[in-house]
Amino acid sequence: MEVKSFINDQIDMIRKIVGETGALSALSGGVDSSTCTLLAWKALGPRLKVVFIDDGLMREGEPEQVKSVFAELGIPVEIVNAQNEFFQALNGLVDPEEKRKAFREVFYRTLGRIIQERGVRFLIQGTIAADIIETRDGIKTQHNILEQIGIDPEISFGFKIIEPLKTLFKHEVREVAKALGLPESILKRMPFPGPGLAARILGEITPERVAIVRRATKIVEEEVSSFQPFQAFAVLLTDKATGIEKGQRKLGDIIIIRSVESRDAMTAEPSPLPWAVLMKITERIIEEIPSVTRVAYELTPKPPATIEYI
Ligand code: XMP
Repeated sequence: MEVKSFINDQIDMIRKIVGETGALSALSGGVDSSTCTLLAWKALGPRLKVVFIDDGLMREGEPEQVKSVFAELGIPVEIVNAQNEFFQALNGLVDPEEKRKAFREVFYRTLGRIIQERGVRFLIQGTIAADIIETRDGIKTQHNILEQIGIDPEISFGFKIIEPLKTLFKHEVREVAKALGLPESILKRMPFPGPGLAARILGEITPERVAIVRRATKIVEEEVSSFQPFQAFAVLLTDKATGIEKGQRKLGDIIIIRSVESRDAMTAEPSPLPWAVLMKITERIIEEIPSVTRVAYELTPKPPATIEYI
């Protein structure tokens, strides 16, 4: 891929398709949606409306951080609070694929509503090649795949989708992002799945359970930051395990730490994190999250495991 001509081609393509109308970008702050938003902004200027959907499944402080990074780039971002809609849609679901499909439904329904309110017709979306391949091959239903599995977004949700990055893999998206001048804070950001922390919670997704994973994720990210793994995070299991508190038995949550190295997320290896770092993460999680009695580090590569847990 020649980065400069890729960028120019995509800007032309977006202009041509959108014409004199407008488009919406649902920015998450990840490198894919950020790159896509910047391309579309270059093509459309303020005819691009940028929203950050706060689905209640984001990491700590994420909506405000993303808004302020884009404010510095001169792109206004509106935070839309849709937490209730998402928690309601996920309520009671435990099967990973059911959770993914419910997330996809509520995500596009919410976007459909916003698109109608803003009077635009197109959604600019940062789908990349790996998302399409994994969904098509039946590995898992990525939240952002519709047309490729036979769902027409116009019929189902009332808008058309433009996907400027759909032929690129993650490392190529990073090259484009760099050429567009996205700041290091975005370029270096670890991939974060569309369904957010819901991809790291087995069993039911409730605000309380999300809060546990959010806190543990922050600890993991802080402690591994100097190693810059491809992706590192915490996972909450369903079972409870025995621990000891004040000399008495205590049943508590089990947290898995997952850190992997990868180029394109199609395959991955566990990161060889130093023992001291793993011990520090464990100590902090046990100390700072009272419901947790066990912490374990996962060693499974992809394949046979996937990176996320649902
Ligand atoms: P898995 O778990 O399939 O993840 O090995 C591969 C990469 O994709 C990210 N991921 C997603 N990204 N929507 C996304 O935009 C999704 O539904 C989704 N599921 C997983 C994951 O974080 C990893 O980088």
